[in-house]
Amino acid sequence: MTRKKRGYVCDVCGYDAPAWFGRCPSCETWDSAKSFSSLEIPEKAPEGLFLPLENIDTFDHERISTGFFELDRALGGGIVAGSSVLFSGEPGVGKSTCVLQIASSIASSGRDVLYITGEESARQIKLRANRLGLKNGNHIHVSPSSEIDYLRTADLSGYTLIVLDSLQTVRLAEIPSLPGSVTQVRECANLVISRSKKEEIPSLLIGHITKEGLIAGPKLIEHLADTVLSFEDTARGLRFIRALKNRFGPADEVAVFEMRSDGLSEVQDLSGITVQEFMPAPGNVITAVVEGSRAFLVEIQSLVSKPLYSSPRRVTSGVSIDRMLLVAGVLTKRAGIPLDTLDIYVNVAGGLSLDDTGIDLAVAVSLVSSFLDKPVPDKACVFGEIGLDGSIRKVSHMSRRTERAEISGFPNTISPEGRVLTRDISELLKIFGGVISERK
Ligand code: TYD
Ligand code: MG
Repeated sequence: MTRKKRGYVCDVCGYDAPAWFGRCPSCETWDSAKSFSSLEIPEKAPEGLFLPLENIDTFDHERISTGFFELDRALGGGIVAGSSVLFSGEPGVGKSTCVLQIASSIASSGRDVLYITGEESARQIKLRANRLGLKNGNHIHVSPSSEIDYLRTADLSGYTLIVLDSLQTVRLAEIPSLPGSVTQVRECANLVISRSKKEEIPSLLIGHITKEGLIAGPKLIEHLADTVLSFEDTARGLRFIRALKNRFGPADEVAVFEMRSDGLSEVQDLSGITVQEFMPAPGNVITAVVEGSRAFLVEIQSLVSKPLYSSPRRVTSGVSIDRMLLVAGVLTKRAGIPLDTLDIYVNVAGGLSLDDTGIDLAVAVSLVSSFLDKPVPDKACVFGEIGLDGSIRKVSHMSRRTERAEISGFPNTISPEGRVLTRDISELLKIFGGVISERK
C-alpha cells in the first residue's frame, strides 16, 4: 500500500502545512502558498527502524578535498562522502565556476565526476572548462538532459562526485509541473540526495536565489541538504563562501575567493590586501573583524564636513546607517564632538559589508580623526563596542583580533584591552593628543 502526500508549501521560506494558508505563519508573506504533491510513500514502515544507541557504529567520515584549502577548511576538512552540499547564491556569483573547478580537481586524480546540467548546454560547460584551463576532461562526464528520471536507475558506482547545476532547471518527467516549481525542486533534490546517501557519493546541488515568489528557492531544500554554502558577492570581485549549515563541521565558517579571468582563486590573507592599500590619512582606520574562526583587518573611512544643504547628510556604505548614527549620537552627547550639524560619510574600503559590533569604536575613531583632520596614531588597529552610555566594551574574540593585528603589522591596538586602553568614549580625544580647539 502506498499513498500520496499532498499539502501546501510557502514559496518564500519553505514552510509546509497540510492545508492552504493565506499568510505564511513562518515568514508572514501573503499569498505564498503553493500546492504540492510528493511521490508515493509506503504506508508500512520497514523493519529495523529503531536502533539502540549502543549498537550504532561510529566512524570518522571519509572526506574528499575540493582542491581549495580554504573551502575544505570551511567545510570542516573537505566534502564528506555521501553528503549533500547545497550551493546557493544569486545568478552570476560564480557557483558553476566553483563546482567545475572542484570537479576538475577531483578528476585530476583520475576519479570520475558526473556533471548534470539543466542550465547550460554540454558545449557551454566545455567552453567554461577551456576558459578555466581545465584538463582531465575524460573524467568529467556531462549529462546535459534537464530530465533526470534516469538517476533512479543509473549505475553511479564509478563516480566520486555528482554535480547538479541547477535545482531550478531540472525536472522529473513523471511530475506534471515545470522545472523550478515547488514539487519539482523538492523531488529532484530528494532524488539526488537519496542516491547520494545510498551510494555514499557526495553531491553538490546548485540553487539560485531569485526574486521571492517567482521560483521555488533553495530555502525549500535547506533542511534536506547536509551542508548549505552561501555565495556572496562583494565589490572588487571578492566572493565569500559561507557555511550556513554544516552537519559535519563548523557552521558560519567563511572562505574568501577572488574571481579572476581564469576562475575563482583563494584569498588566504584578506588582511594583506587591506594593509597594502591603507593610507594613513585623516578618517582612515584599520579595524579587525571576525568571520567564522578567522579575524581579518578591514579599513574604515569617514569624511566629516560642513553640510552641503540646510540639513546634514548621512551616508554609509558597508556599515549600517543605524550603527553609524548611534556612534555619531554618542560622540556628540558623551564626548562633546558636535557631529549633529555636520555631513557624515562612512565607507568600508573594498566594498565589504560589515555586521560586527566590534567596528563601533573604529567608526568612532574614524569620525573623530576626520573631524580633527588628524590621522590616527601610527600602526593602530581599533575595535570595541560602544554603549549608549559612552562606555566601550569588549567584543567576541578579543585575542584573535589582537593577534591578527600584530601579525599584519598593526600592533598598536586601541580597544578595551589594547595597548592604548580605552574604556570610555570621552577619552577618544586623548588618542589624538589634543582637544577640539586644535581642529584645523
Ligand atoms: P558562473 O559561474 O556562471 O555563475 P553562476 O553559476 O553562479 O550563475 O559565473 C559568474 C560570472 O563569473 C560570469 O559573469 C563570468 C564570470 N567569470 C569570470 O570572471 N572568470 C571566469 O573564469 C569564469 C568562468 C567566469
Ligand atoms: Mg551557473
